[in-house]
Amino acid sequence: MLGSGQGSNFVAIAEGISFGQVPAEVALVLSDVETAGILAQARSRGLPASYLPPGKFRTKLDEEAEQSLVAQLQAARVDLVVLAGFMRVLKGDFLRAFEGRIVNIHPSLLPCFPGLQAWKQALDYGVKVTGCTVHFVDAGIDSGAIIGQQTVPVLDGDTPETLHQRIHQAEHELYPRCVAALARGEITVQGRLVKWHPAA
Ligand code: GAR
Repeated sequence: MLGSGQGSNFVAIAEGISFGQVPAEVALVLSDVETAGILAQARSRGLPASYLPPGKFRTKLDEEAEQSLVAQLQAARVDLVVLAGFMRVLKGDFLRAFEGRIVNIHPSLLPCFPGLQAWKQALDYGVKVTGCTVHFVDAGIDSGAIIGQQTVPVLDGDTPETLHQRIHQAEHELYPRCVAALARGEITVQGRLVKWHPAA
């Protein structure tokens, strides 16, 4: 799992695993931010967690960091890369190394409001419903095939903070559900079309 922030989505998935709802194992947690809560959360659960120095760029990893990321994930023999608030664009060798095996959560109903502070974009636009999306990662920005979505109402009087908080709560339900379905092999993908095949 990769993240840059407080790690609440990581916690939701880790709890889903401990409660037996997500048949998976967290092999490794990496963050481009040394002080990120996600690293502290992982360490407090006894899970391997490391800082990945991102290099000289602000919005992406430099080549050395990307190579180190690929090497660490391969050494940990991961089947799935779960982005949980990882705020750098991933490209090139990394996408090729884990093609079709990288998922992300985004705080809007894609394709609306890709990019940064999607909850604020939704509020500024004036939509009445927003939500969150779990999707495969491709070379675009928040543009990969959609695995699952959950709606969240925008309420009169919402501030960016209250709306983001409500979206966060929806994320904590949606992401473990999607990771569980992927881990159970219940998801098939044909181009942009993702289908769920829950076991009877
Ligand atoms: C989440 O709201 C996630 O959707 C967002 O960062 C937050 C991370 O929270 N991701 C993006 O905006 C990616 N474009 P967390 O660290 O508590 O899981």
